[in-house]
This record gives sequence, C-alpha cells and structure tokens, in this order.
Amino acid sequence: MVYGLVRPLLFRMDPEQAHERVMGLLEAVEARPALRQALARRFTVDHPALQVEAFGLRFPNPVGLAAGFDKDARAPRALAALGFGFIEVGTVTPRPQPGNPRPRLFRLPADEALINRMGFNNEGAAAAAARLGRAHPVPVPVGVNIGRNRATPNERAAEDYLECLRVLFPHAAYAVINVSSPNTPELRDLQAAAALGRLLAAVQAENRALSRKHGRAPLPVLVKIAPDLDREGLAAVVDAAATHGAAGIIAVNTTVNRSGLRRPAHEAGGLSGRPLAARALRITAAVHRLTGGRLPVIGVGGIFSARDAYERIRAGATLVQVYTALIYRGPGLARRINRGLVQLLERDGLGRITEAVGLDAGRWLEDGWS
Ligand SMILES: Cc1cc2nc3c(=O)[nH]c(=O)nc-3n(C[C@H](O)[C@H](O)[C@H](O)COP(=O)(O)O)c2cc1C
Repeated sequence: MVYGLVRPLLFRMDPEQAHERVMGLLEAVEARPALRQALARRFTVDHPALQVEAFGLRFPNPVGLAAGFDKDARAPRALAALGFGFIEVGTVTPRPQPGNPRPRLFRLPADEALINRMGFNNEGAAAAAARLGRAHPVPVPVGVNIGRNRATPNERAAEDYLECLRVLFPHAAYAVINVSSPNTPELRDLQAAAALGRLLAAVQAENRALSRKHGRAPLPVLVKIAPDLDREGLAAVVDAAATHGAAGIIAVNTTVNRSGLRRPAHEAGGLSGRPLAARALRITAAVHRLTGGRLPVIGVGGIFSARDAYERIRAGATLVQVYTALIYRGPGLARRINRGLVQLLERDGLGRITEAVGLDAGRWLEDGWS
C-alpha cells in the first residue's frame, strides 16, 4: 500500500541512484535492532508448512532474495526482516572493482523488467567478509555468490573463485559459483562442461580443505546457470554439477535474449523480470527431470506473485528467489508470496511446500524448448 506512494518517487530517479537510496535506508535499519524486530514482526510469515530443508540447511520459508541486490552484504539482517527465507549476497569478486560505466541499469516498466550491465561492481571479498562477520548471526541462511574479477582470464578464473571461497567460507551458509552473468566478458564460457568440471573440482578440493581447517562441514556449493543454454548445454552443465558434488542449481541468471518484449529495448546487458519467467520455468522443470529431482533447484526469474512461486515449485524448484519484483512491488513482496503460498497449499490439500516440488515438472517439458 505505502509502496504505491513511494514507487513513483523512486521511479523518477535514475535506477541505480534509487537503489543506492534504498540500500542506505536498509543500512540504517541494519544498524538498529529494534527497527529490525519491528519490521520482522510485520513482514515475517511464520508457518510450519513453509519450512524447507535443503542441502543440510533449514529455511523458514522458500522465498529468498536473489544475488545482485546486496552485492556487498551491507544489510543482510534488514533484508531478512522483510520476511525472506534466505539472502544471497554478491556477486563478490576477490578484489574490489568498479564495474561498467554508468548508466548501467534500466527500467522497462511496460514489461515489468530490468536490463542491467553492472559488471560485478563490488568492494571485494574481504569487505564482504568483514560485514558478514559484524552481521552475525543473521536469522536466515546467507549464501555467498562468487565470481571472478573482470581482469582475470578464464584460464586463471579458478584462483579467483578459490580466493573468494577462502575469505568468505566462515561467513556463508552456502556458496554459489556464478558462471552465468552476461556482463563479464567470456564468463559464461565457464559453463562449458570441461571448464565447469575443472572449476568445480578445484572449488570442492578447497572446500574440503577449508572444512578441515575450520572444523565444520564443507559448504553446499551451487552453480548458477544462464537461461540462454540450449538443451545440450543445459544437460552438460547439470551433468558436470552432479558429477562434482554440487549441492544444487540456481536457475536462472539474466538473459541476453530480447524476444517477447512489449516495448523493444536495445540496451546491452542482462534482462530480468516478467519476460524471463516462461524460460526460467522450463529450465527449472528440465533440471528437475534431468536429475530425477536429486539436485535441488533454486528457481529464479520473473517471479512476482505467490502463483508464480507456486508454479515454479511445482515445476521442480525446492526454493525460489526474487529480485526484479522487489523493485516493482516493494518491501511487502516476500510476505505476500508466503501468505499466498500457504493458501495455495491449503487449496490443494498439501501439508507442506516440499510436497509440491516437481508435481508438474512433466507438464513444462512437453511444450516447446529452443
Ligand atoms: C541489477 C541486477 C544485478 C544483478 N546482479 C547479479 C549478480 O551480481 N550476480 C548474480 O548471480 N545475479 C545477479 N543478478 C541476477 C538476479 O540474481 C536474478 O538471477 C535475475 O535478475 C532473475 O530474477 P528476477 O527476474 O527475479 O530479477 C542481477 C540482477 C539485477 C536486476
């Protein structure tokens, strides 16, 4: 309701400046426990049917915040207070980097979409680790999404991922290998089966070493994939991920495809939001089918409502994430989705959200895949 008044003000601003304003507010909340508690009371939907256990972690609800919103881990507890079941920070690179020149974030209101070519602007792994250390404990799992610096060639990319893992290991509930951003040149080449296999093998070896060093279990390592893979590419990525003990797949990152927009947009970068939903849904179903449901999928891309989230879960997602919908729908988003999910479960006579995972996976594979 209130966001109906605030959104026009934000939408009058440059998109990245609006985001910085919002992050400033969230940082103010982050620093004030009483405010966080008040928000949590308002936005948290506490219902046993929504709880999910996946890759050894407990999630109070299946609706997470996707990577890219809080790249530097500035406000994980404030974001948790908005009712998200988990928060993914990053993408973090080993060294700080400024990202691409501005403007690099664009709204497409007619399509409820965004185009971004941020290019992994972030303050680096050490800064994120320090912030997460101060934020401990965050009441929901915090995942750390890691990538390579722009200046690092793919042949040496593993060193960057390992460095991030070393620095962030003590502060993360799970790690995400981001090989799918379209805004770092050649990054997506790391999705090729052989390259991904080598990268994952190196990451898992370091993960085991860190586990011994820190005296705790290795982190669940997930792979975040692009929506622009073809059938064979997807099967190869899933196979490489499964072979190297990945804990799950995050499907999907932003797309370079521009088809189906109501209002054509030609800015370079990755498209997110509504136009991504159909593709993301099919990929979720395909991954679920390819792995026989054994590798959990975090479904992301164009989820705006409880119906969208429920459809994604029934297609095969164990958890979901949102980003673009938060810009268009505001801070009540997670609460609205979670409340709606409880109602949809009741409608369908299901006791827990986990019972819905993959019920409709077959349905989304029969029609079209390019
Ligand atoms: C401005 C912006 C920045 C993003 N930055 C990252 C990032 O750093 N790392 C990443 O893995 N995904 C990033 N994403 C992708 C989102 O995490 C998500 O996969 C994608 O936007 C699709 O979800 P949505 O339609 O709900 O936004 C970014 C998205 C946006 C809009």
